[in-house]
Amino acid sequence: MDHLPFSNTENQLSLAGMRRDYSLGTLKNTALHDDPIQQFDIWFQEALSCQQVLEANAMVLATTSRDLQITSRTVLLKGYDLAGFRFFTNSTSTKGKQIAENPRVALLFHWHALERQIHINGHVTLLPRSETEKYFQSRPRQSQIAAWTSYQSSPLSSREELEERFEKVEARFENQIIPTPEFWNGYLVVPDKIEFWQGRSNRLHDRFCYTKKENGGWKIERLSP
Ligand SMILES: Cc1cc2nc3c(=O)[nH]c(=O)nc-3n(C[C@H](O)[C@H](O)[C@H](O)COP(=O)(O)O)c2cc1C
Repeated sequence: MDHLPFSNTENQLSLAGMRRDYSLGTLKNTALHDDPIQQFDIWFQEALSCQQVLEANAMVLATTSRDLQITSRTVLLKGYDLAGFRFFTNSTSTKGKQIAENPRVALLFHWHALERQIHINGHVTLLPRSETEKYFQSRPRQSQIAAWTSYQSSPLSSREELEERFEKVEARFENQIIPTPEFWNGYLVVPDKIEFWQGRSNRLHDRFCYTKKENGGWKIERLSP
């Protein structure tokens, strides 16, 4: 492993010493909204207003197959309301297959510039087809063509294969409205647990976890950092 920049002892030591103290903000229970999605909205608006947060709506989605293979990847949050969090993807992809096998998922937002992260656990339902189509039709034409082009997560023999397929799809739909692919869908993550994390000095971070109660309300607990 000599060729890797961090593989010699000196660099290992400097990596071990790499850390930041977090001191930008605090999170107090008295300032929390009773509803975690309203609290999410407060933090999300702050992330959108923060110039150092480049894509506030980028979130890591973790899924698990029936045989407990766990995978995670970034997707874009495309909407949220009191029902949950929406994203769009190809249902034949790894994540799409895993969701079909096991609807339990986790989402993670990390807004480093704000020293904040939000964990969300919940289950996924498919969005109504009309909502998926409405969103698909709002996408740039090239993105629509790309959705038809990509057999997402399946192997490709070359970059050329992908680009040739893109050109074929472009020609096929020339001068036409591009229909929404059957295999492309919107998903709603219905949360039952949402945790807000605010970095604090000396690793004594603030963490508050909302857990859905059977009667529909939310229990709020402070967690150890
Ligand atoms: C910033 C960012 C945003 C992304 N947004 C999406 C998205 O909204 N939907 C999507 O299907 N893939 C998106 N991707 C690509 C996924 O991370 C992933 O590569 C792809 O969906 C295949 O994932 P899978 O093989 O685990 O199913 C995004 C990647 C990045 C880095």
